[in-house]
Amino acid sequence: MQTSSAKGPRVIVVDGAHPDTRAIEEAASLLRAGGLVAFPTETVYGLGARALDGAAIRRIFEAKGRPAAHPVIAHVEGESQALLLAAEWSALASKLARAFWPGPLTIVAPKKSHVPSELTGGGDTVGIRAPSHPVARALLTAFGEPIAAPSANRFQEVSPTRAAHVVKSLGARVDLVLDGGCTDRGIESTVVAIEEETRIVVLRPGSITLEDLRAFGDVVFEARNAESHATRMSPGLDAKHYAPRARLVVSSRHDMSLAIRDASHAGAIFVGKKAEIGAREVRALPADATGFAAALFATLHDLDDAGCDVVVVEAPPDTEAWLAVRDRLARAKS
Ligand code: TXA
Ligand code: MG
Repeated sequence: MQTSSAKGPRVIVVDGAHPDTRAIEEAASLLRAGGLVAFPTETVYGLGARALDGAAIRRIFEAKGRPAAHPVIAHVEGESQALLLAAEWSALASKLARAFWPGPLTIVAPKKSHVPSELTGGGDTVGIRAPSHPVARALLTAFGEPIAAPSANRFQEVSPTRAAHVVKSLGARVDLVLDGGCTDRGIESTVVAIEEETRIVVLRPGSITLEDLRAFGDVVFEARNAESHATRMSPGLDAKHYAPRARLVVSSRHDMSLAIRDASHAGAIFVGKKAEIGAREVRALPADATGFAAALFATLHDLDDAGCDVVVVEAPPDTEAWLAVRDRLARAKS
């Protein structure tokens, strides 16, 4: 089945578990021709282009309206393809790849000289991950080369977890959207760099937690500030990111009604059970971090579509399991 409209991109609906070979072949030939293809990963939808083609990557930046100094993640089938891009691949990088790939872990490594500077934001490292989503994997296999893909949304907007979010944000700026349904993790990959062979520096928290990583080395994570590792080593980690149109406020359950008192069409997102606070749109998300993360971005899109001017989110627990969710909420509100 497929749909298209005069203004929008071409959208092909594929089975998320067993995508149609013809659709995948068509997407791969578009990539070969330097085109942009949006596809589902297990985290969020990616906006894909040929990773070894600087001109194709420049099209990603134009489509997103993203500053050129931001590096883009290269998606690979597995470790052997990663070695086409990385000049050094430490024993620890290899251990992490074996433990978490395919899956939501991006490993930053020194780049080989042929890797285009457009991919790395002008820097000398490249972020690499092997996604686990069957559609992403089928596309990587058919294409046979690494695919550069940031999240498939305009710069600073909420990342897409459904094909409709991609169409809403990018419209005809993307050549083709493979619609493989909603993504299951709902939050972007964990990004790590490796220092001195044994230290794992978390540059962006994600669905692979610090606890998951501790089995493999000393894990360093510093909250973002002007001096932190994440800010120095990961130029794309702007304070403002993932922002809905509505003003987003994070508040303790007790103060939620106060936070929306000036709103004309308030939305509320609860952790677990709802409470009556006088909001027009009320959503209750799962009280566990994984379930909450999976639904968060789709709920923010939904509340924007419902016309909310203010969205108040109940502050999640201040525990490590909720680190990635709290990171995204902090950046959505600034
Ligand atoms: O889950 C994900 O990672 C999604 C899906 C599509 O795979 N992709 C994604 O890509 O979120 P993007 O481009 O929106 O996020 C890229 C971020 C950069 O802003 C930066 O923080 C970090 O990943 N990154 C990528 N390459 C890096 C590098 N060479 N050095 C440091 N940080 C890097
Ligand atoms: Mg993004």
